[in-house]
Amino acid sequence: MGRWTAALGMLLLAAAGCRQDMHDAPRYDPLEASNLFSNGSSARPLMPGAVPRGQLNDDAFLHTGKGPDGLPVTAFPFAITHAELDRGQDRYNVFCAPCHGRTGEGNGMVVQRGYRQAQSIHIDRLKVAPVGYFYDVIANGFGVMPDYRTQIPVEDRWRIIAYVRALQLSRTATTADMPADALAQLLKGQPAAKAPVEIHR
Ligand code: HEC
Repeated sequence: MGRWTAALGMLLLAAAGCRQDMHDAPRYDPLEASNLFSNGSSARPLMPGAVPRGQLNDDAFLHTGKGPDGLPVTAFPFAITHAELDRGQDRYNVFCAPCHGRTGEGNGMVVQRGYRQAQSIHIDRLKVAPVGYFYDVIANGFGVMPDYRTQIPVEDRWRIIAYVRALQLSRTATTADMPADALAQLLKGQPAAKAPVEIHR
């Protein structure tokens, strides 16, 4: 009996030892200070271009594309400049064009190779759909289209939508929609200088 008690005691001691090791493991507690890094914080900043998950997203307009009424918003959360639009074009061509095609008809290379027909962005329903609706499709997917929440940072989603609007406009815009100076340039046969863009819907 005594032998068993001793054996059990040793086993318990050994187990407790293991447990202690885990307690003393060299790791930081959340937000603990550190003298290893120059800013004194053990928490490291996000790498540029990281797509955060589980962050505090307190700006519902920006992060969900929905208003307080739960409906898709009809305006962009930040001003769309030419630089934003250029970035949107670049990201659209990377993430959307493989299926939707560079002009948005829904006939991208992936579709030509047998993937389900992607929707054309030029149909009437999508021409009048609010920008918040497109945000929802990008963030949450739609039907067989996968979501892009882990690949495309929040601001880039909005820039892509601005470019989708530009693609849609390109079908129906007339010279009457052009700023006077850009039209004058065009009539002279020269490419229009980059004018500030305003996209509201
Ligand atoms: C892998 C292919 C693929 C990629 C990449 C893709 N889509 Fe789609 N998308 C589809 C398909 C397929 C549908 C139709 C889905 C269905 O009806 O089930 C669709 C539908 C849509 C719709 C229509 C939703 C509706 O109400 O009918 C929008 C808007 C859209 N995509 C936007 C985008 C944007 C913006 C991107 C880039 C961020 C993108 N898609 C990337 C395949 C893709």
